[in-house]
Amino acid sequence: MKLWGGRFTKPTNQLVDEYTASINFDKKLAKYDIQGSLAHVEMLKFCGIIPVADADQIAEGLHTVLLKIESGEAELSEEHEDIHMNVEKLLMEEVGAVGGKLHTGRSRNDQVALDMRLYLREQLIEIIQLVVSVQQSLHTQAKLNLDTVMPGYTHLQRAQPVLFGHHMMAYVFMFQRDVERLTDSWKRVNKSPLGAGALAGTTFPIDRQFVAEKLGFDGICENSLDAVSDRDFVVEFLSNASLISTHLSRLCEELVQWSSAEFSFIELDDAFSTGSSMMPQKKNPDVAELVRGKTGRVVGHLVGMLTTLKGLPLAYNKDMQEDKEGMFDTVDTLKGALGLFAPMIETMQVKKENMYEAVRKDFSNATDLADYLVEKGMPFRESHAVVGQVVLQCINDNKYLLDLTLEEFKSFSETIEADIFEKLKPETVVNARDVAGGTAKNRVEEQIEKAVELFQSSSEWVRKHGENI
Ligand code: ARG
Repeated sequence: MKLWGGRFTKPTNQLVDEYTASINFDKKLAKYDIQGSLAHVEMLKFCGIIPVADADQIAEGLHTVLLKIESGEAELSEEHEDIHMNVEKLLMEEVGAVGGKLHTGRSRNDQVALDMRLYLREQLIEIIQLVVSVQQSLHTQAKLNLDTVMPGYTHLQRAQPVLFGHHMMAYVFMFQRDVERLTDSWKRVNKSPLGAGALAGTTFPIDRQFVAEKLGFDGICENSLDAVSDRDFVVEFLSNASLISTHLSRLCEELVQWSSAEFSFIELDDAFSTGSSMMPQKKNPDVAELVRGKTGRVVGHLVGMLTTLKGLPLAYNKDMQEDKEGMFDTVDTLKGALGLFAPMIETMQVKKENMYEAVRKDFSNATDLADYLVEKGMPFRESHAVVGQVVLQCINDNKYLLDLTLEEFKSFSETIEADIFEKLKPETVVNARDVAGGTAKNRVEEQIEKAVELFQSSSEWVRKHGENI
């Protein structure tokens, strides 16, 4: 007999049971469902809505049910549709008819919204920690590469040299915005929908604040209709996850390029690379490629969720059951990628000489020659044109700027002196960008110091918010 079977005269078609059931995936919520039920039953007791003895018996039964589910001993069935009704059935098997008092003043609609929030906030803590560990691995590489000069690119054409440390720090700050978005989203996740009932509230004298406090929420959802129909927090998470995945994917693309023979700027550790079943010489950056590839499914889940919600009237609609698989898969996909990333970055070998050669055999110091002429009084537009001529001449002669003699330089502008050779060295070019946020070594060191403060505040946030849940 179904928990809601009273008004029905026929059993459900088995195909309907199979089609509408969510137990195969929402069993992941068992722990949170029971955590929520324990708080609910304590409130029912506190408010005198059910007798103390009944409440205590239910609470004890719920603990047993959780143990049985976790050990695999409990049988979860599609016939009971979802985790909420399966738990209730199991509870009644444990404690008898008194178990039927648990659902007083509650609906699966506010219950499932609660479970999703409890699940997500726990995941948020873990994901923030993982993002910070990726930031720390990039930070470590930045510290090790404060003298590593590489070509900086625009349009994937060599543009101006930068420190590899500077490049690593760009990603540290990029991921910092992700951390901030995740911590900000917490405010909207960490609210209790319980007490909204099916949609309109309940006739029982419940205490929503009591439950919220018990569960470590910062407050309650203000409107019962909104409480049961809001999945913005899922969309927001999927959106944040999409952006994190996009950031990881951009870095992956660079790792793939850099580890090609064409670039040969890095070598990923053997432990984080794979081979080819046919070509014995191959060492492939599979992890980076797969992280890049999995961005598609994360973004897909975001689009899927938005599309599901798009036409929904208030309040709960069964469509909303579709919020789960995408979110679970996103959490697993993201944690998998982030977990691999930190050690992959930390163990990668940076081929400093190759990066330096790529800078030396190039014209990425051309801007500095133009700036030199500006210092001598030439308007920048003019110096830009002059240096264009110098570069053209060099290309024709198969030379780079530092291969020219002073005489050759002077043939373009009389104002050029012997100090030009020092000016155009890669290290000088890098360190000349001595502006806040620039690539000069001291400026990268400033970024590295700033990041330490950011990591400390992230850990502080995790400690503070993690302990209440
Ligand atoms: N399994 C459902 C879900 O995940 C739980 C809520 C169902 N509520 C209902 N009235 N059918 O959304």
